[in-house]
Amino acid sequence: MSMLGPYTYQFIENPAQGRVLLLLHGTGGDEHDLLPLGRMLDPQASLLSPRGNVLEQGMPRFFRRLAEGVFDLQDVRRRAAELAAFVQVAATAHAFERDSLLAVGYSNGANIAAAVMLLHPGVIRRAILLRGMSSIRSEAHQATAAGSAGAALLLSGERDPIATPQRASELANDLRSARIDLRHTMLPVGHELTRADIDVAQTWLSECAAAPAPAE
Ligand code: MLT
Repeated sequence: MSMLGPYTYQFIENPAQGRVLLLLHGTGGDEHDLLPLGRMLDPQASLLSPRGNVLEQGMPRFFRRLAEGVFDLQDVRRRAAELAAFVQVAATAHAFERDSLLAVGYSNGANIAAAVMLLHPGVIRRAILLRGMSSIRSEAHQATAAGSAGAALLLSGERDPIATPQRASELANDLRSARIDLRHTMLPVGHELTRADIDVAQTWLSECAAAPAPAE
């Protein structure tokens, strides 16, 4: 177990020097939760996995909420800034290029990853957002240079009662208006992760590997 800034985290290095997957768990998870998913998605990647530093009745999260789907926007901003700073410090501490980073977030983890993309353009340039929903709008569209600000895959569930199709589409619109090259796929599932998520994510990752990194 290691600590960096406000996070307890795991870093599992793969000497192959491929991608670094930033794994962001859902409510009640921890830094171990998404390690198997990360391994499945990219066996060559190093894994950087922080534990959410906000507790809701003992359950770790990445930002406060007032009720299901009702977020404390001031806290979203504060925690997005903390996570953005963590990524930069971790890149120095573990000697990886920030461009090699790709976030994989589930539920609350997807929401904080999206908030970092919207509020701190350039820190997370690629992401797989599993069951993400709109939390906050970017105020920084104009801060990014012309061209793509990054790329993301948003995987949503048609029957998801939490990250509903409507809230997922709102996030898709927010990301697109921040010039993130987004693929949004709706699966015939609920909030839980399924084999179909992994299959679609693996295909997107292999296409990503073939494409040049989004320009700064
Ligand atoms: C969750 O339970 O994680 C939520 O549905 C998403 C969030 O609160 O960010």
